[in-house]
Amino acid sequence: MSDAVSEAVALEIVEFQEPQRAAVIALWQASGLVRPWNDADKDINRKLTDPVGRLFVVLVGAAVVGSVMVGYDGHRGTIYYLAVHPDHQSAGLGRRLMAHCEAYLLALGCPKINLLVRRGNDKARGFYDALGFSEDEAVSLGKRLIPDV
Ligand SMILES: CC(C)(COP(=O)(O)OP(=O)(O)OC[C@H]1O[C@@H](n2cnc3c(N)ncnc32)[C@H](O)[C@@H]1OP(=O)(O)O)[C@@H](O)C(=O)NCCC(=O)NCCS
Repeated sequence: MSDAVSEAVALEIVEFQEPQRAAVIALWQASGLVRPWNDADKDINRKLTDPVGRLFVVLVGAAVVGSVMVGYDGHRGTIYYLAVHPDHQSAGLGRRLMAHCEAYLLALGCPKINLLVRRGNDKARGFYDALGFSEDEAVSLGKRLIPDV
């Protein structure tokens, strides 16, 4: 799948390809998404086993400047690893990536998106608010099954 998002600056949203792996991880590091308890490399490997979901990247030429993972479990859609490189933030790219994911999920028949924002990530909260997301009356619970480190 390819979606030309800005002819003027040659931006495009495409599915992740293996040669982009190091650049995607560098993007996650630059945009503050990497946590010591999550192995980014393993997270990419796991996503590549997901037959329904996708890892999309934003390219400017060959440079990776954005990413997002999207999934659908048959009940809810999820969006994570959303990142825009700091040099390209506040230019509408995050909104375009989210619109790309929403169109992808809608095409699968997905009725609702759930996503997580880390406490303290006020910038992302403001971003999602601007896109029409609101806090659910629910608490997110987690249980680790495979330690990464
Ligand atoms: C969050 C992030 C993806 C946003 O991407 P971006 O390209 O900078 O955002 P955009 O320029 O597309 O902004 C879209 C809209 O949100 C608004 N917005 C963005 N941040 C905002 C904030 N903190 N408060 C209020 N509005 C905000 C913009 O003004 C814009 O509004 P408009 O379209 O009406 O003009 C980016 O900041 C990022 O990669 N952050 C680091 C990684 C991260 O935290 N990811 C989310 C993990 S949950």
